[in-house]
Amino acid sequence: MQEIFPGVFAKEKMLFTKNFAPGKRVYGERLLSESGVEYRQWDTFRSKLAAAIKNGLDTLPIKAGSKVLYLGAAEGTTLSHISDIIGEKGAAFGVDVSERVMRKFISICEERKNIVPILEDAAKPWAYGKYLEGTRINVLYQDVSQRDQAEIFLKNAEYFLPKGGWGLLAIKARSISQRKKAQDIFEEETAKLARLFIIRQVINLAPFEKDHTMVLCEKSG
Ligand SMILES: C[S@@+](CC[C@H](N)C(=O)[O-])C[C@H]1O[C@@H](n2cnc3c(N)ncnc32)[C@H](O)[C@@H]1O
Repeated sequence: MQEIFPGVFAKEKMLFTKNFAPGKRVYGERLLSESGVEYRQWDTFRSKLAAAIKNGLDTLPIKAGSKVLYLGAAEGTTLSHISDIIGEKGAAFGVDVSERVMRKFISICEERKNIVPILEDAAKPWAYGKYLEGTRINVLYQDVSQRDQAEIFLKNAEYFLPKGGWGLLAIKARSISQRKKAQDIFEEETAKLARLFIIRQVINLAPFEKDHTMVLCEKSG
C-alpha cells in the first residue's frame, strides 16, 4: 500500500481508504487486510472524488480531523470514504433532499459516528445552519445533479465556508444543458465561482464519468 494523500492509499492501480467501520461494506466494495489494517477499495466508477484523484487531483483538502459539508450525499458511497479519511476527530455533514436515499444513508451513519445525515434542500442553506452550529467547516463538497449547481455551491459557501476554506464541486454538464458542448458549460460554470473562489484545478472525470468535471477551489472572499 502506498499512501498517496493522508488517508488515501494506492495498490496495483486501485485506490483504498482505511475502513473506519471494520468488517462493514457500504456498496459491495472489496475489503483487504494488510499488516492488521483493513482497507476498503474506493471505486473510481462509483465515486467522482476517487475519479478526480485517479485523474491527477494535486491537493486533497480532506484529511484527518477535517470538517466537511457534503451536498448531495445520496446513499453515502463517497461520504463513507470521506468518513474513513477524516477519522474520529473529523465530522462530515451529508445533505440530501431525497427521502428514498436517506434511508440507506442513515444506516451508514449509524455505523460511522463521524457522519451526520441532514434531509434538506441544499438550495436552502438557512434551513440546516442549525445542525452545523459551533462547527467551523474546512471543506465544502458538492455533487447535486441540478441546473443551478454553481449557484447552490456559492450560496452554501457564503453561509458556511470561511475565507481560505476549500471547495470541491462536481459539475455535471448534462444537468445544465443537453445541447451545449460540455467544455463550454464547464467554462461558464467555473467562471461563476470566481466571485468567491480562486480556481486551483479543473479535472475532467472521463472515462469514469462522461461530461463531468471536478473543480478544486479555495475561498478568497
Ligand atoms: C449523483 S448523486 C450523488 C452521489 C454521491 N455524491 C456519491 O458520490 O456517493 C446526486 C444526489 O443529489 C441529490 N440532490 C439533488 N438535488 C438536491 C438538492 N437540491 N438538495 C440536496 N440534494 C440534492 C439527489 O437526491 C442525489 O442523491
